[in-house]
Amino acid sequence: MPGVRKFEHAHLYVPNVEETASFYEEVMGLRRRSSGDVVRLETDPETHYDLYDNHHTIALEEGTAGIDHFAIRITESEFESVESRLASAGVEYEIHEGAEPGQQRSIRTSLPGGLPIELEVVEKAPDVDRQQVLPHSGVHHAPKGQDHITLASSDVKTDAEFLRDVLGFKISDVAMAGPDMWGMAFTRWGDHHHDVALIVAPTREQTGLHHIAWQMTDLNHMKQLVDVLGKAGHEIDIDFTRHVLGNNVSLYFRDPAGHRVEITTEVAKLDADTPTTFHEEDPNDIVTFWDGTHPPLGEEEDH
Ligand SMILES: [Fe+2]
Ligand SMILES: [Fe+2]
Repeated sequence: MPGVRKFEHAHLYVPNVEETASFYEEVMGLRRRSSGDVVRLETDPETHYDLYDNHHTIALEEGTAGIDHFAIRITESEFESVESRLASAGVEYEIHEGAEPGQQRSIRTSLPGGLPIELEVVEKAPDVDRQQVLPHSGVHHAPKGQDHITLASSDVKTDAEFLRDVLGFKISDVAMAGPDMWGMAFTRWGDHHHDVALIVAPTREQTGLHHIAWQMTDLNHMKQLVDVLGKAGHEIDIDFTRHVLGNNVSLYFRDPAGHRVEITTEVAKLDADTPTTFHEEDPNDIVTFWDGTHPPLGEEEDH
């Protein structure tokens, strides 16, 4: 989906592909783009402009629950600069041509903590049929698209500085977890407050995906999705809350594989030159504006 949100897709391992794919279709309102060993799903186009580059948002493959990689959308000219930055920093990377459906080419590398990242240029359709997308033709409760990804990192500072200094992200906010210890970092590629967020993992074994967030229009839209979620018998992990860092309103639950899902609205926009803000107070004091609606950090129920 074109626009300011740059997190493009995540490729996940799930124990039961059909069960998880059905959840994303029936509860989240996504549609299946392709089947086979890897099932790819996408959100409905919101407007005909989305048809310029329809692209999958989530890929599911059989395996122990976890993440294979996540992707950030970049332009052709950004591709050249990312490649030269990686080369001059001496970081290993691979270039792939059309390795995934809807992908023109991509650079694959890893964060210092080992989390794989893909920076991809998506294929553009030069001429679209606007009649394919009628106003309000989509599933009413379905997210407008992907919003951001949050990763559990063994070293938030090192990973965030790699995103900033090597790949060219900006860091919007950092929550300190102690002297010289970064607990959370929120990084942006464009002006969306966070495209990739990092949160400290209690142990190295717990690094990987923390959650994937989906963009909703407003609170009413979130309610519509939660109505479907509840009716389908799923539980909410964290109820409606407003985060201080990002200012977004959020609610969290799990997919059938146990991956944490966030639905969110009102994520802040920042200028390109907005500096990083460091928050020295207890991260629990800035996790929400609505006291009592967010469990203490690190104490969310682990399924
Ligand atoms: Fe990918
Ligand atoms: Fe989030």
